[in-house]
Amino acid sequence: MANLVHSQPRYTDRLMLRPFRRRDVGTLHEAVVASMGELQPWLPWADSYDKGFAQRFIRESVGSWAERRAYDFTIRKIDEQDRHIGNVSVWPTSVQNEIGEVGYWIRSDETGKGYGSEAVGVVLGVGFEDMGLHKLTLRIAVGNIGSEAIAKRSGFTYEGILRDEVKIGDEWVDHSSWSLLASEWRNR
Ligand SMILES: CC(C)(COP(=O)(O)OP(=O)(O)OC[C@H]1O[C@@H](n2cnc3c(N)ncnc32)[C@H](O)[C@@H]1OP(=O)(O)O)[C@@H](O)C(=O)NCCC(=O)NCCS
Repeated sequence: MANLVHSQPRYTDRLMLRPFRRRDVGTLHEAVVASMGELQPWLPWADSYDKGFAQRFIRESVGSWAERRAYDFTIRKIDEQDRHIGNVSVWPTSVQNEIGEVGYWIRSDETGKGYGSEAVGVVLGVGFEDMGLHKLTLRIAVGNIGSEAIAKRSGFTYEGILRDEVKIGDEWVDHSSWSLLASEWRNR
């Protein structure tokens, strides 16, 4: 059984991250709609997104946390905590091998300010310390330079290409695979 991941807010210099609550639907929906042009090329769910999706996502997210299947965080600025500015998640992919995966997005009018990297830094701590994982992975659509920059800045190592890994719209898209070991993270 994986270690317990507490649900109290986590803070960086500028951000507060916490689990989703049902009343977050409105601000989550608004952030997705405002970011659709940047989400659609890279994230498969964005193509068929609607408000019902946001409601189902939050319901599923609350259940997943309780069942230790995935840990999704809403990202907020400390000085503007009512407004959702992005998601970051970590979830186990192999209990046997103590591996997890990380995913994220930042709303378009808040990109380029380092929030993505700052939020990923928090879930690396969740993965390696709270969940006790040995390795964290990232899969990034080929061409997503902004996301690759987060991977590099966070200390991940490029491993190679996963061919036709995710279907985005009608297209199968190659993804790069990245990993970070607990030992590397501790020695960072
Ligand atoms: C990718 C994304 C998460 C970046 O978020 P962000 O908050 O802008 O990230 P940061 O500000 O921490 O930027 C990290 C680095 O990427 C660079 N960067 C960010 N967006 C970029 C872009 N579109 N093109 C080139 N570089 C970019 C930044 O300059 C920064 O570089 P540095 O490390 O040299 O300073 C955001 O653009 C996004 O949500 N995109 C759509 C969804 C997505 O792609 N999610 C990831 C799926 S794997």
